[in-house]
Amino acid sequence: MITVQNLHKKFAANTVLNGIDMQIEKGQSMAIIGGSGTGKSVLLKCILGLETHDSGKIFINGEESSKLDKNKFLSNFGMLFQNAALFDSLSVWKNVAFRLTQGPNKIPEKQAKDIAIEKLRRVGLTPDVGDKFPAELSGGMQKRVGLARAIAANPEIIFFDEPTTGLDPIMSGVINELIREIVVEMGATAMTITHDMSSVRAIADKVIMLHNGRVQWSGDIKELEKSQNPYLNQFLKGNAEGPIEAVR
Ligand SMILES: Nc1ncnc2c1ncn2[C@@H]1O[C@H](COP(=O)(O)OP(=O)(O)OP(=O)(O)O)[C@@H](O)[C@H]1O
Ligand SMILES: [Mg+2]
Repeated sequence: MITVQNLHKKFAANTVLNGIDMQIEKGQSMAIIGGSGTGKSVLLKCILGLETHDSGKIFINGEESSKLDKNKFLSNFGMLFQNAALFDSLSVWKNVAFRLTQGPNKIPEKQAKDIAIEKLRRVGLTPDVGDKFPAELSGGMQKRVGLARAIAANPEIIFFDEPTTGLDPIMSGVINELIREIVVEMGATAMTITHDMSSVRAIADKVIMLHNGRVQWSGDIKELEKSQNPYLNQFLKGNAEGPIEAVR
């Protein structure tokens, strides 16, 4: 579903991605881990076409991304941004239903609202939240609204950037289960960026770890704990000592 080949990206003198290769099969749930500032969000933005890459290739469903019809491409995926990125001036349900009420395939407002309320329920929010505005919600609630928006149009590919950051452990568990369900029930392909290892264990089939602009480790979720990779082990254990320098 998604293939990335030898991807490079730098900002001025800062080389962020230095030859990334990765592949996500249809219906697979992939977790991307790695320290802060290693380029996880940039990689995601390159795949989405929100950032242009310097060299290398990205294929979505076999087609090179630069050659894809952007509208068609965008209509097939959902995205949860790291900071939720809700529209401040729209009510919560209008945020969730945004994609459903735009463009040539838009549906009537009443129907869109019903879907929005149902998606809010799935992320643990009650219908009355739908009429509030983003500024009236806690950070964790905003995150869940962002998640409801990402799944509103039943996308084929879903990208989650830090879906559980800022949530309490119980709500994190709910969101992890939801992500797993979306992949299993809807057959969606998911790419999730996270620091939360319990989330990785709950949602991922495969894991890749980024470090120094490259894929430092990749493998099956079952291989994660058994790995002897010093970078991965340091990350899993959260050790200050090791090959990854804590000060950057
Ligand atoms: N638009 C931009 N302009 C310049 N530099 C950028 C831009 N976006 C990202 N960067 C730089 O790219 C590097 C990687 O950033 P990125 O946001 O991908 O990190 P991350 O791995 O997602 O970190 P975190 O876990 O903290 O979210 C950082 O050094 C950042 O400063
Ligand atoms: Mg990030």
